[in-house]
Amino acid sequence: MTGFVLPTVAETYAFGQRLAGLLRAGDLVLLTGPLGAGKTALTRGIGAGLGVLGDVTSPTFVIARLHRPDPTGGRAVALVHADAYRLSDAGDPRAEIDDLDLDASVDESVTVVEWGEGLVEHLADAHLRIRLHRHDDDTRTAELEAVGGDWAQRLVTFPARG
Ligand SMILES: Nc1ncnc2c1ncn2[C@@H]1O[C@H](COP(=O)(O)OP(=O)(O)OP(=O)(O)O)[C@@H](O)[C@H]1O
Ligand SMILES: [Mg+2]
Repeated sequence: MTGFVLPTVAETYAFGQRLAGLLRAGDLVLLTGPLGAGKTALTRGIGAGLGVLGDVTSPTFVIARLHRPDPTGGRAVALVHADAYRLSDAGDPRAEIDDLDLDASVDESVTVVEWGEGLVEHLADAHLRIRLHRHDDDTRTAELEAVGGDWAQRLVTFPARG
């Protein structure tokens, strides 16, 4: 487990940008943490680091959004941003996730999921779990946990500070 201190939203965004350097097509990233922890802010930074098109926001009417690569620059990889929050009290959240057909895009994209614990792990052989903690002074901390695959090796190459 690797820990990071994220004092401000700008630093959370920058951390996401830095993290994007580690990410490649086929990766699944699970973001956990309470409401307002900074999951979307971090995803926004990842999107910026990958150089994808479209603002990364909390989708109101969709569970998942595809951000295509910018043909004029950035990395040639798409970002799929899913937010399963509104599935939590639905009848069969796992079936709803499967209906989204996210596995059709996982191989060619970086897939980042908020509120996806217990719902999306099957989409890839391995994943990176990022736990965001929100503290009383409004700072955040992030813990990176490698779950399978070569994530542990890849995290070794990720500098503690950028
Ligand atoms: N250090 C920080 N890191 C990230 N966000 C911060 C930080 N300090 C303050 N904030 C604020 O906290 C909020 C985080 O919101 P964000 O939508 O990213 O959270 P979330 O985890 O996606 O929440 P939700 O579960 O509702 O989707 C933003 O308003 C942001 O400005
Ligand atoms: Mg969010």
